[in-house]
Amino acid sequence: MTVARVREARPVLAASATSIDADDPLAGLTVGEVPEPDVPAGWAVVDVKAAALNHHDLWTLKGTGIREDQLPMILGCDAAGLDEDGNPVIVHSVIASDGWVGDETLDPRRSLLSEVHPGTLAQRVAVPRRNLVPKPDALSFEEAACLPTAWLTAYRMLFVRSGCAPGSTILVQGASGGVATALVQLGSAAGYRMWVTGRTEAKRARALELGADAAFESGARLPERVDAVMETVGQATWSHSVKALVPGGTIVVSGATSGPSPSAELTRTFFLQLRVIGSTMGTRDELERLVRLCAVTGVRPTIDSVLPLAEAARGFARMADGELFGKIVFAV
Ligand SMILES: NC(=O)c1ccc[n+]([C@@H]2O[C@H](COP(=O)([O-])OP(=O)(O)OC[C@H]3O[C@@H](n4cnc5c(N)ncnc54)[C@H](OP(=O)(O)O)[C@@H]3O)[C@@H](O)[C@H]2O)c1
Repeated sequence: MTVARVREARPVLAASATSIDADDPLAGLTVGEVPEPDVPAGWAVVDVKAAALNHHDLWTLKGTGIREDQLPMILGCDAAGLDEDGNPVIVHSVIASDGWVGDETLDPRRSLLSEVHPGTLAQRVAVPRRNLVPKPDALSFEEAACLPTAWLTAYRMLFVRSGCAPGSTILVQGASGGVATALVQLGSAAGYRMWVTGRTEAKRARALELGADAAFESGARLPERVDAVMETVGQATWSHSVKALVPGGTIVVSGATSGPSPSAELTRTFFLQLRVIGSTMGTRDELERLVRLCAVTGVRPTIDSVLPLAEAARGFARMADGELFGKIVFAV
């Protein structure tokens, strides 16, 4: 029989979704004390030191991927902290179903923390023990907290799903986002020629500082076609992405921030024999390799700002307004 361990239930500070509003997502964000999450058998409790914000948290407040009857729900997919024995750990956010073997991202019943189980924007979070990855001393808790969602997604898009070898030319749509900055930094470190589009001159300049080899205005004609495009923007950039590719080129898509229904560009897609590849998060093993890559290369996540968890609303507003560059991290 599966028995949850009995712990002394303490209230924890957390940022939760308490209502859903597609037009005003921040209206449903509540920061305050909540009962400590339950700990199912086989799960561990992590004392969270740092937790990072993702666009996923805004989607939740807008009602994507969650139902009203699941609220209140503690938000957050990313955390780094200390396990019950005091070991520094990073939390892998993909929760596979009981008995699942193999690539967790292919489990049709998988979820991310904050979709079914309480998330990481809290003083403590419960996760399956196998979802803990050791944190090397070389990475701070704030840096490590950026890796499990945006950085892992970027890692899988570029190194696992694109099929492109180092030396290839890769276009990243968007310059400033969590996934976009991770793509530029990882690709640059691994020897790809990284091009980006960005909506403002300031964001394009920052992308060049991060290691991008060229930065263009959104929708600009490129000097030559690229081997692959990394897409998270969706509707606003999709046509440009299709037109940017060499014959036989690849779009890897993991998000649709500006909308999910772009012009499909079917004619060009079949005529030029393009490949459209979906990508979602990454496996625990890929997270372990990403952590090692950061430790070995010295690449570190670009952090826009570190805020106390109690001021989470400021971070959410910054993301909703599209003002950030890199990751927003909450110190817990
Ligand atoms: N499938 C997965 O597993 C997975 C994992 C992580 C993220 N995602 C998705 O990927 C997307 C990005 O996530 P994130 O956390 O990186 O978000 P973020 O930090 O808020 O970044 C938003 C990015 O979108 C770009 N952007 C937004 N609206 C745009 C528009 N109308 N036109 C052009 N560019 C636009 C921004 O580019 P500028 O620099 O030009 O402003 C920026 O690079 C989200 O939709 C998220 O849900 C999916």
